[in-house]
Amino acid sequence: MPEDLEAVRKRVEELREEIRKHDYHYYVLNQPLIPDSEYDKLFRELEELERRYPELVTPDSPTQRVGAPPAEEFRPVRHALPMLSLANCFSEEEFLEWDRRVRRLLGGEAPQYVCEPKLDGVSVELVYQDGVFTVGSTRGDGYVGEDVTRNLRTIKQIPLKLLPINGKLPRLLEVRGEVYMEKEDFKELNRRREAEGEPPFANPRNAAAGSLRQLDPSITASRPLKAFFYAQGRVEGLEIKSQAQLLETLSRLGLPVNPRWKLCSTPEEAIEFYHQLLEAREELPYEADGVVVKVNDFGQREVLGEVSRAPRWAVAFKFPAQEAVTRVRDIVVQVGRTGALTPVALLEPVEVSGVTVSRATLHNEDEVKRKDVRIGDWVVVRRAGEVIPEVVRPLPERRTGQEREFRMPTKCPVCGGPVVRPAGEVAHRCENLSCPARIKESIRHFASRRAADIQGLGEKLVDQLVEKGLVRKISDLYRLRLEDLVALERMAEKSAQNLLRELERSKGMSLARLIYALGIRYVGEHIAEVLAERFSSLDELARASFDELVEIPEIGPRIAQSIVDFFSSAENRQLIRELKEVGIDPRGGAAVAQEAPLAGKTFVFTGRLASLTREEARRLVEERGGKVASSVSRKVDYLVVGEDPGSKLDRARALGIKELSEREFLELVGRS
Ligand code: IVH
Repeated sequence: MPEDLEAVRKRVEELREEIRKHDYHYYVLNQPLIPDSEYDKLFRELEELERRYPELVTPDSPTQRVGAPPAEEFRPVRHALPMLSLANCFSEEEFLEWDRRVRRLLGGEAPQYVCEPKLDGVSVELVYQDGVFTVGSTRGDGYVGEDVTRNLRTIKQIPLKLLPINGKLPRLLEVRGEVYMEKEDFKELNRRREAEGEPPFANPRNAAAGSLRQLDPSITASRPLKAFFYAQGRVEGLEIKSQAQLLETLSRLGLPVNPRWKLCSTPEEAIEFYHQLLEAREELPYEADGVVVKVNDFGQREVLGEVSRAPRWAVAFKFPAQEAVTRVRDIVVQVGRTGALTPVALLEPVEVSGVTVSRATLHNEDEVKRKDVRIGDWVVVRRAGEVIPEVVRPLPERRTGQEREFRMPTKCPVCGGPVVRPAGEVAHRCENLSCPARIKESIRHFASRRAADIQGLGEKLVDQLVEKGLVRKISDLYRLRLEDLVALERMAEKSAQNLLRELERSKGMSLARLIYALGIRYVGEHIAEVLAERFSSLDELARASFDELVEIPEIGPRIAQSIVDFFSSAENRQLIRELKEVGIDPRGGAAVAQEAPLAGKTFVFTGRLASLTREEARRLVEERGGKVASSVSRKVDYLVVGEDPGSKLDRARALGIKELSEREFLELVGRS
C-alpha cells in the first residue's frame, strides 16, 4: 500500500533532526544520550526510507557523508575574506610587549583577552548557507585554498546541517578552524600503516594534512580526523560581538569548539593560562604548539586592524620547541637486552623543550640509511615528553663533504662477539648470551617499574653487580646476601636491607609481570597479560607448542616462534627452575580466578591520588586479577577519581562508568 508521501517526508525530516542531535552529543560533546543500538535503529530507518524514496534524499542528510567517487584534482576556492596568519611571540617579555602595544593603540580602553590552545593541524574554512554545509576549503595561501568539501563531509564531528538557535539558522556562516588528529589515533594509524607496509606519517599534523588531501573521500573517511572551530569569515543573519560570544554560538550551532578556552581580564591571567596549558601539554589528547591570545571585543579589533597579513588583535604565544638543530659528533652502538645493536647519535649538547640533549636514538641501521644521517651532519632532533630524543632528519644543505657514513660494526662493541643480522629483521644482534651488556640490560628490564618493580636496583648498581660477577642471570638477584651488597661501592647497610626487602616482595609478582619481566622478544606488557590469562603457570607456558600458541587470539606466528625459541634454550629452562627454587612461581589463568576478586575488571585512574602512586595503585589492581587501562572506553568498569581529575571524568560520565573516590577504591581492594 503506497504511503502518504507527505507523511514520509515528515518522518524523514524528524529522523534527520533526531540523528543530528545525537551526532552532536556523541561526536562533539562526547556525551551520548542513547545507546548505540537505539541510534543504529534510527539510522537504519532513515536509510530504509531514503532507499524507498530516493527523491527525498538531500545532501545534508546524515546518510550522505561518504559516497562521492574519487576526484581528479582539487578545485581552487577563493576565500571571501582572506584567512590571515598570526604573529608569534616566544617569551613573557614579548607577550607583555604585545599587550602594551594593544593598550596603546586602544588608547586607554582596557582589552579583555580570550586564550585558546593553538592546535597543530590543518586550517580550514566551512561555508554554511541557511545552515547547510556547502563548501569547505583549506587555507592555501590565505586567499585561495583547495576545495576539500567532499573530504570534510566524512568527518563526523562536522555537521552537514547546523542546529538551529531559537528555531533559527543563520543565512550565511563562514567558519574557520583546525582539522587535526589526536596523538593516540595518530599512533594507531601509523601502526596500521606499518603493518600494511606503508610509510608512517612523521607527525599528527602531516597525518591530518595527508588524510584531508585525498582525492578519494573514502580514504579520508577511514582516517580518525577531528576538528575544532574558533574564527569566522563572513556572517549574515547572526550578530556576534566578541570571541567569547562566537565560541558559545558556534557550540550551540553544533560545531565542535575546544572547551579549553578562557576569558582573561589581565595579561597576567593570560600568562597563567599559558603555563597551565604548557604543564598539561603531554596529557592533552592533541598536539598544541602554544596559546593563541585574542582581543575579545570585535569593536576593539576594528580599531587595532592588521599589518602584513596578520591581525594586531591576536598573537600566538608559542611553547618551547620540541625540535632543535645540532651536530652529530659521532654515532656509537648500544647493546640492548635482546642483544640488539642500536645506533645512537652523540650530539653537541642542545636544549630541546627545556632539557639539554646530548644523545639521540637512531633505532637501527636501516633507519640511519633511510634518513641518511652521517657523522658530522647537522640534524633536527626531537624530544617530546618522556620519550627518548630522536634524530628526525639531517640538513644535507649544510654538508661540507667532511661527513662520514656510519657502518654497523661486525663485532659487538662490548664483548667482541660476532654480530649477525637475522634474515627478515631490521636489527643487528650480538649473539653472545653472556655478553655483559645483554646481561645488564636484561637485569634492568627485569627490575623495571612495569616488570618486577624492584626499587633501589638502579643502573649503577646493576653495572657493579654484573661487573663483580655477583649476578650473571636474573635468578642470581635472589641469592644476593647482605654481605655481598654492603661490600659494594656506595652501598650503606640500610639501602642493602631495603633492596633485599624489595627483592623478597617482588617474589609475589603476578604471572603477567613475570612473563613480561623475562624479556622474551615481541612479548610486551599486553601480550604478557594475554599469556597469563591463558596459562596457569610459567611451566605450562614453557611447555606450550607453536601450534597451541598461535591458536590464542592476538598471538601471531612471530610471537609464538619467539616464545618457543625462548623456552627451548637450556639456559632459560634452567633459569625458570631456579626462579621456582627461590619461590617465584605465580599462578595465572583459571588458577587465579578464585583468589582474584577483581578478575575481568578494568580500572582507569584520573587525577592525583593522595596516599599512593599510580604504580602502587596499578599493582593493587593487578595483584587482585584486575587490569588498568590508560583511557576511558566502554570496556572500563571503574574510574578512580583523584584530585584535579582530567577530561577522562567527563568521558566516563558520558558513558555512565562507575566512579570511585580514592577511599572507595582502597576499600574495594581491601586496603582501607
Ligand atoms: S586564530 C587571524 N586560533 O594557527 C587569526 N588560529 O598561525 C586566525 N591555529 O592558520 C587564526 N589554533 O591554522 C587561531 N585557536 C586558534 C588556532 C589557530 C591553531 C592555527 C591556524 C592559523 C595558524 C596561524
